[in-house]
Amino acid sequence: MTTGNGGVEVLKVQEKPDPQPRAGEVLIKVRAAGLNFADILARQGLYPDSPPKPCVMGYEVSGVIEAVGEGINSGFVGKSVAAMTRFGGQSEFVTVKATQVFDKPDSLTFEQAAAIPVNYLTAYALLVVMGSLHEGESVLIHNAGGGVGLAALDIAKKIGAVTYGTASGSKHKFLAERGLDHAIDYRKQDWQPVLKQLTNGRGVDLIIDPIGGKHWKKSYESLRHTGRLGMFGVSAGSADGLGGKLKMLKAVFQSPWFYPLPMLSRNRGVFGLNLGHMWHEPEKVAIWMRDILRGVEEGWVRPHVDQAFTFAEVAKAHQYMEQRKNIGKVILVP
Ligand SMILES: NC(=O)c1ccc[n+]([C@@H]2O[C@H](COP(=O)([O-])OP(=O)(O)OC[C@H]3O[C@@H](n4cnc5c(N)ncnc54)[C@H](OP(=O)(O)O)[C@@H]3O)[C@@H](O)[C@H]2O)c1
Repeated sequence: MTTGNGGVEVLKVQEKPDPQPRAGEVLIKVRAAGLNFADILARQGLYPDSPPKPCVMGYEVSGVIEAVGEGINSGFVGKSVAAMTRFGGQSEFVTVKATQVFDKPDSLTFEQAAAIPVNYLTAYALLVVMGSLHEGESVLIHNAGGGVGLAALDIAKKIGAVTYGTASGSKHKFLAERGLDHAIDYRKQDWQPVLKQLTNGRGVDLIIDPIGGKHWKKSYESLRHTGRLGMFGVSAGSADGLGGKLKMLKAVFQSPWFYPLPMLSRNRGVFGLNLGHMWHEPEKVAIWMRDILRGVEEGWVRPHVDQAFTFAEVAKAHQYMEQRKNIGKVILVP
């Protein structure tokens, strides 16, 4: 439970009555819940989509269906599933619309299955749907060692793109093993001239950027002709207290303006993505998920869980991510 805005001390484990599934919903006994950067921003009071505090965050779970609401086949009880949850996932039980639930692949543990929905759907929408990444093209994945970053790398490799990634140096060995072609330690050096040199001055075809603020301008400038920039986060604004609010404001004010005519003459495109604003499009998301689950079967979707923390250790889990220690997914378990 995120009891208010602030540091990790606002995170508490609390007992509440179990929720009951309404018509069209299922009740899931949670075995694993994903932790996302949005949960950290929500705790810091910087996430506009957060429910009012106190609230239980959590956009995704895996678990077992415990009960079903009216209109749902009772044969689903006992099934192992994963699901997108519109909050409330970081608890022992959660109710969710049946349209947001999918079968857990047998080959995955519950922890791995909980690492799929947010990271892979976001990466799929960025690279395949909106970014239109093609074989032989090049992509720069910022924070390639994070949850979305690793998912994007899996998808980019499957497409057959040349992959560039920024990440803390400690993640480069792992990224090379996962197939990243060129890693750049953006915390020790400016990534932009390095990318320029690696691409013979041309830039890349697609950049996915969750950092935001003036960083989006830099990314935009690093596109090749017919290049696309996908903007999907503002981690630049992350910090506790007043400092966070000021950083977020600064990031908003430093965001670039994009003008049609220069874009036209430079053959460039920009787009934004917020997976949390797709609840009204379950059919689209289901099609993306079908492809991702096929990827699990075929072996190119490989959700990587860095560490699982118990609910009681949620503060440690937040700190782990804020200190940039995670490679891939951080999971919470009851
Ligand atoms: N729009 C959407 O639909 C959507 C969906 C999911 C995620 N996102 C966004 O995508 C980004 C990644 O999310 P995630 O859940 O996959 O997290 P994550 O990448 O697993 O974890 C955060 C990583 O980001 C890097 N980072 C960059 N700036 C940071 C900062 N100020 N504080 C802490 N870490 C920072 C760190 O890696 P290195 O420094 O080592 O690279 C850190 O390990 C976030 O900005 C998130 O808001 C957006």
